[in-house]
Amino acid sequence: MVGLRLSIVGLCLLMVALPARGANILGLFSSHSPSHLILHMSMIKTLAENGHNVTVVTMMKPTVTHKDIHVIVVPMTDEQEELLESQMNEMAGQKNSFIDTMLRLMSGMRLMVDSQLELLSDPRFQRIYETKFDLMFMGYFINDFQLGVAAKLQVPVIVSWMQAPMLAVDELVGNPTETSYVPNLGTSLARGEKMGFVKRLQNLGMEVIVRIMWTIFDRRLEKYYNQQFGHEVNFPTLGEMKRNVSMLFTNSHSVSEGPIRPLVPAVAEIGGIQVKDQPDPLPEDIAQFLENAQNGAILLALGTNIKSTAVKPELVRSMFKVLSGLKQHVIWKWEDLDNTPGKSANILYKKWLPQDDILAHPKIKLFINHGGRGGITEAQYHGVPMLALPIFGDQPGNAENMQKAGYGVALDLLQLNEDNFKANIQEVLNNKQYALTIGRFSQLYRDRPLTAKQTVLYWTDYVLRYKGAPHLQSPSVHMGIVAYHNLDVYAVLTAALSLVLFLTWRALKFTCRKLCGKSKTSKKVKRQ
Ligand SMILES: *[C@@H]1O[C@H](CO)[C@@H](O)[C@H](O)[C@H]1NC(C)=O
Ligand SMILES: *[C@@H]1O[C@H](CO)[C@@H](O)[C@H](O)[C@H]1NC(C)=O
Repeated sequence: MVGLRLSIVGLCLLMVALPARGANILGLFSSHSPSHLILHMSMIKTLAENGHNVTVVTMMKPTVTHKDIHVIVVPMTDEQEELLESQMNEMAGQKNSFIDTMLRLMSGMRLMVDSQLELLSDPRFQRIYETKFDLMFMGYFINDFQLGVAAKLQVPVIVSWMQAPMLAVDELVGNPTETSYVPNLGTSLARGEKMGFVKRLQNLGMEVIVRIMWTIFDRRLEKYYNQQFGHEVNFPTLGEMKRNVSMLFTNSHSVSEGPIRPLVPAVAEIGGIQVKDQPDPLPEDIAQFLENAQNGAILLALGTNIKSTAVKPELVRSMFKVLSGLKQHVIWKWEDLDNTPGKSANILYKKWLPQDDILAHPKIKLFINHGGRGGITEAQYHGVPMLALPIFGDQPGNAENMQKAGYGVALDLLQLNEDNFKANIQEVLNNKQYALTIGRFSQLYRDRPLTAKQTVLYWTDYVLRYKGAPHLQSPSVHMGIVAYHNLDVYAVLTAALSLVLFLTWRALKFTCRKLCGKSKTSKKVKRQ
């Protein structure tokens, strides 16, 4: 009897802890950033690999795929795409004043926001309403009005944001912004640096500007929401939907990346989600080549959007000259295998290579890349110091940050010559500081109770188990700005204190006048 009861209790416990599998999940990722999409898809792939049936709506063809992910692509119109591209190029091509950048950003964003609204009316999108879903992921990209889709499907929402937490997503789950020690967008702060008065003033100023911008956007987002869903009966408002977000997944890991900051329980950090927890075995030739590398090896891969053959021939010649003279082995990603830069016993050319798995190999001592964010993240994860050769776009910025963090050195690809290329390689290989610094980061980055993939699975299953997670929610989500900052309490206390001070002062004055008056008269009496 007792045994039976125990086993029933055990069974119930098991059921509570058992992950929900085979749920129907919708991923709505209408961000126009390819790098965001890779991260969203890596997160979704984890769910598909663990038995969930996922449908994903995007505006670009995703590069990360899985057989159990049904992808619906609704691209922007050519016209929109052209406009967006020209705006971005214009911005990248010149030094703009702050106001100018803001204005352009606002108009660029308007286009992005508009196209994300149009998506909802597209017949290809509308088909999703025929499926019964259990959960919706919304990739955040100033698209709050898309929360109406979840309201229509009557499913809980997890918002995924593919950078560190920031104001607009913090607000959804009531995560504190803490301007006195958490740097805002645009405030640069070295790891461990404390904000002095000027930095704090700047940071607060930035927060005010961002808040104003967001207030302007909020109006438009609400208008769009009402325009799209206003005719539905018994429909929640956008405000209600925003206060009903179950969780927020952010692509960050504050313990290793900084800043150290408070996170409410509804925030789960999934930084590194795109990197494999365990490397796959390497192809035979690469594995052999690395095994034979007595003095360690170097990986050279200049990314996918820059074809190696598009790099100027004299640059390639210089690179080959330096690399073929090294005692290290070099794996060089090179598309045109019939036309390699030159033959050398220590160089292996590969058209395609499993970059992540190679970086995980202990023989790799240096990673030469083009400053792409994905490559830098992988190198950071595996603790491989870098030489970045940036060309355009976000690459110079990424490379500079990488160098500032002490993970390696950066060299503008167009400035490259034999001497500086060789000097930079020797610097990273011989100065142990780079390997130590990135090695320490790598250790902290990976030292977590749950890996990024486990985190995604655990919290997704958690939200599925409870059909939403209102019990995780911070009460601050439902508070106005006055109550949240306790302004009313401070006001009443200040008023009460002022009153007490005022009365005390009056009383003192009164008593004093009486006493003084008396003593004066008594003095007068004495003199007489
Ligand atoms: C999986 O999702 C698709 C929608 O993309 C749906 O048509 C299909 O019925 C779902 N499969 C199951 C087993 O629910
Ligand atoms: C809030 O979300 C839950 C599911 O997580 C849903 O049952 C509920 O109806 C939603 N409330 C509103 C006001 O939309």
